[in-house]
Amino acid sequence: MDKIDIIEQNIEERSPDLLKLLLKDKTTGRNIRWATDNYKHHGSDYAAECEIKPNLITGLHTHVIQPRVSKNQEEQFKRTRDKAEVFTPSWICNKQNNLVDEAWFGIKDVFNHTVGNGWITNEKPIAFPEKKEWKHYVDARRLEISCGEGPYLVSRYDAVSGKFISVKDRIGILDRKLRVVNENTDDESNWYNWAIRAYQSTYGYEYQGDNILLARENLLYTFIDNMQYKFGNKPTLEQLKKIANIISWNIWQMDGLTLTSPFSEAKPAFVQISIFDMEEEKGNPIPSKIFDWRSNYSLEFQSMVNGG
Ligand SMILES: C[S@@+](CC[C@H](N)C(=O)[O-])C[C@H]1O[C@@H](n2cnc3c(N)ncnc32)[C@H](O)[C@@H]1O
Repeated sequence: MDKIDIIEQNIEERSPDLLKLLLKDKTTGRNIRWATDNYKHHGSDYAAECEIKPNLITGLHTHVIQPRVSKNQEEQFKRTRDKAEVFTPSWICNKQNNLVDEAWFGIKDVFNHTVGNGWITNEKPIAFPEKKEWKHYVDARRLEISCGEGPYLVSRYDAVSGKFISVKDRIGILDRKLRVVNENTDDESNWYNWAIRAYQSTYGYEYQGDNILLARENLLYTFIDNMQYKFGNKPTLEQLKKIANIISWNIWQMDGLTLTSPFSEAKPAFVQISIFDMEEEKGNPIPSKIFDWRSNYSLEFQSMVNGG
C-alpha cells in the first residue's frame, strides 16, 4: 500500500504552495471542506463544514487522509452507508473506457483487450481513424461524475485491491490521453504543452473533501510518473504548479444534486432587516464554477447542464 498512499507532508515539503493549490476550491476562493463527519474525532477543525487546512493533514497528522482501500472496514462501511461510496475495480473502469473509445475510434479494443477480469495492453502505437488526429483525442473533453478517487480518470492503483499499476498498463481516461501524447511527441516542451492540454480536457467532481484531495493527488502524481516514464526526468516546481492549478479547477468539490459547493454560503445581495429577524439571514449555497480552457473563461457548471 506504501506506493499508493501519497503523503501530504511530502507535497508540503516540496512546496507549501503546491499543497495549497491542491486544497483550493476555485468556486469559493477558500479551501475544499471535509464534507464528511468521518474525521470529527480528530477535533473540532475536522467537522464536515470545516475547510481542509494544510496543518490538519501534515506533520503529526500526515496519515489522516488515506485512500479508501487503506481505510479500516468500519470506516468503509460507514462511508458506503452515508454517501454510497463503493469504488469500481480497474477492470470494470477499463471495460467502460474501452466502450467510450470504441464509439470515438469506430473500432474495438484500441488500447488493450480484456482477458477475464484483466486486460492485455496493445503494444503498437495507437492508430487514428481518417479525419481524426491524435490532437483531437487529447482535446476531447471527458467528465467522471461523483469521481471518488478518480479511478475512471487515472489508474495508478486499483481502487478496490490497492494493487499498483505500471504506467504502460494504465487504463484511465487521462492515462490514455497521456499515452497518446507520449507516442506522438519527442520534444520535451511540445510534450509538456500537450500534457497540459490532456489535463485541461479531463474533469471530475465529487462531494467528500478527502476524495477530492486523493483524486487531485492521483492526477498530479500521474503527471510525475509520465514525465519520468517518457524522459526519465522529474518535473520542475513551476511545471507541477501549472498542472496542479489545472487540476484544482477541473477536479472540483460539488454536490451533484444541487450543483453547488458543499457548505458554502453566499449572503444575499440585499437583506431587508426586520425587527422579527432574530437569527442571522442565511445565504444560498454557491453554484460551482468550472473553467473552459480553450475559451479561457470560467462559467457555472449548472449553465451547461441547463443547455446554456
Ligand atoms: C459509488 S462511488 C463511485 C466513485 C467512483 N466514481 C468509482 O467508480 O469508483 C460514489 C461517489 O459519489 C460520491 N457522492 C455521494 N453523494 C454525492 C453528491 N451528492 N454529489 C457528488 N458526489 C457524491 C461519494 O462520495 C462517492 O465517492
